Amino acid sequence: MSEAAESIAQWRRRLAGRFLVFDGPDGSGKSTQVHRFTDFAQARGVTVCEVREPGGTAIGEEIRRVLLDHCTGDLDVAAEMLLYMASRAQLIAERIAPALRRGELVLADRFVSSTLAYQGTAGGMRLDDIRAVAAIACRGVTPDLTVIFDVTEETAASRLSPLLDRMEAKGAEYHRRVRQGYLDQAKRDPAHYLVIDANGDAKSVWNALIDQVALRLAAH
Ligand code: TMP
Repeated sequence: MSEAAESIAQWRRRLAGRFLVFDGPDGSGKSTQVHRFTDFAQARGVTVCEVREPGGTAIGEEIRRVLLDHCTGDLDVAAEMLLYMASRAQLIAERIAPALRRGELVLADRFVSSTLAYQGTAGGMRLDDIRAVAAIACRGVTPDLTVIFDVTEETAASRLSPLLDRMEAKGAEYHRRVRQGYLDQAKRDPAHYLVIDANGDAKSVWNALIDQVALRLAAH
């Protein structure tokens, strides 16, 4: 087999039937990398189920509108957490679990790690309470790897559009805690998390991502 064909076969083995999450603070650039990773995997013959949270189903997109719209007003943090989880439960039932059963790569833009960082570390909910609700919503589905795209507050702020949604508008101190929440999760569970420095341009972040994901999935 040629070197190129060998590399394609290797990536197929690494990715088929896996569940990867790309996550990080608002303005981390993760969504750009999600789309790029989908193209990369598809070019290697892997069927990809790409999803985003909140959303990804008809019901989930309705919940997303409620969560991100300023008209929603002051939403209690427990209600907020349960709405994110409701969107997730539907997404798992309708799309993620069936795709994994078919042996596809599931690539999620945000997952439980977001709820732990936003409603937990930043919002003040107990992380164990969030994990207990996640156990109901996720029905045993857990990511093989959660990649955290880490950015300083300055980088994140410089990448956001001036029209902030309800979550983005929560202020600098809230978003500082969100970042810390992600870093704490990665520190606590290094086997399932990978932190990528996402302060550079999209190309250098991509190169670091591919190198490190290859290493991490080879070890699985
Ligand atoms: P997005 O802009 O990356 O699509 O994410 C939507 C917003 O929702 C973003 O500000 C992060 C926030 N969020 C939470 O607060 N908790 C969650 O569980 C999820 C999935 C997202």
